[in-house]
Amino acid sequence: TGLVTLDEGFVNTGSTTSDITFLDGEQGILRYRGYPIEDLAAKCDFVEVAYLLIYGELPTNAQIEDFRNSLRRHSLLHEDLRIFYDGFPRDAHPMAILSSVVGALSTFYQDLVSLTDPQVVDTTIHRLLAKLPTIAAYSHKKSVGQPFVYPDNSLSYCENFLQMMFSVPSEPYEIDPDFVEALNLLLIVHADHEQNCSTSTVRMVGSSDANLFASISAGICALWGPLHGGANEACVAMLERIVRDGGDVKKYVDMAKDKSNNFRLMGFGHRVYKNFDPRARIIKASCEKLLAKRGIDDPMFDVAKQLADTALSDEYFIERKLYPNVDFYSGVIYRAIGIPVEMFTVMFAIGRLPGWIAHWLEMRRSPGKKICRPRQIYTGPQERAVVPIEQR
Ligand code: CMC
Repeated sequence: TGLVTLDEGFVNTGSTTSDITFLDGEQGILRYRGYPIEDLAAKCDFVEVAYLLIYGELPTNAQIEDFRNSLRRHSLLHEDLRIFYDGFPRDAHPMAILSSVVGALSTFYQDLVSLTDPQVVDTTIHRLLAKLPTIAAYSHKKSVGQPFVYPDNSLSYCENFLQMMFSVPSEPYEIDPDFVEALNLLLIVHADHEQNCSTSTVRMVGSSDANLFASISAGICALWGPLHGGANEACVAMLERIVRDGGDVKKYVDMAKDKSNNFRLMGFGHRVYKNFDPRARIIKASCEKLLAKRGIDDPMFDVAKQLADTALSDEYFIERKLYPNVDFYSGVIYRAIGIPVEMFTVMFAIGRLPGWIAHWLEMRRSPGKKICRPRQIYTGPQERAVVPIEQR
């Protein structure tokens, strides 16, 4: 074990080289393929950013049209896959459904065993990107007991998702352009974040040459935890609790500092960002814009801002360089759109999918690709003899 260096939680271990995302945690810089996240959020929609992450360059008009058409063509779920939903309990967590159904896609589409045929690779990627919003919206419809709404090929990616989530057969549904804009922005800022827990999981699983669906299904499970993507759901639960509790933010800041309990401020702190999280800034501004435009007065947003101000002027948070992260304000936008809290982490997964795919491809195509197999430092008992059971 002399040669093995221990780095619990991989705080300082580079697991790969990557051309996809640049992140400077000290300066709060995040760029996809060289483009600042702020610029992409202002000028592109989510599908363009997905194209950029996966193919390495921003698309031309012709390329994006082909890509959008392909995503439309593949958005329907196989009817047999739809039947899976009958077997899930109504109160199943949508992240559990998401990972199960994505894993099950590999039973329907078994052709991606090697990367030799670029057409097969593209089709598989497009299928997954196209179907994830449908899978997600169906899990919501299942939970509320409403009929599934099939995707509509005349709509954009985000419009389609909103329609599948919220329309019901008896009422006309009008897609709100403000919600479409906010959703595009949220998905863009979630689209990649280099070697985070779920992306590293996708790479790790894929490194054994497991297929794309299996690798992404594992990534969805990794994202689910409250220290990762699950933080957005946990954060809203926390903010709701503070609102119900009369809005005493100081009490919760003090509780988060107190090491005798396990309470942390959800949506606060980051392994890499030690100055500010640029994604949180973009989302906060978008929150403000959306709520003002719609005349929504959400006490949760006020509490979130007060909580952030109180924590940011507190010695404990200053010393440890803890700032609001991507999950801190996103829930306010999701709530304004009408997305229920248990779907928040699913939204994160829809946003992160292009990043996961880009990393899976990069890893599979890397000339030096090896199966991921970390080492350990053994701390168990030394050799000992088995005592027969009657003598133990
Ligand atoms: N509230 C209170 N104290 C905190 C918090 C928090 N949210 N985050 C970190 N700390 C403290 C922690 O107790 C430790 O203190 P001490 O040095 O006294 O023991 C110190 O700050 C360093 O924390 P750490 O847990 O060693 O840092 P880490 O890099 O391992 O963890 C983190 C990063 C994001 C898991 C952590 O900050 C956290 O649990 N935050 C809350 C959950 C959250 O918002 N997660 C979303 C992350 S961003 C999106 C994503 O990745 O999905």
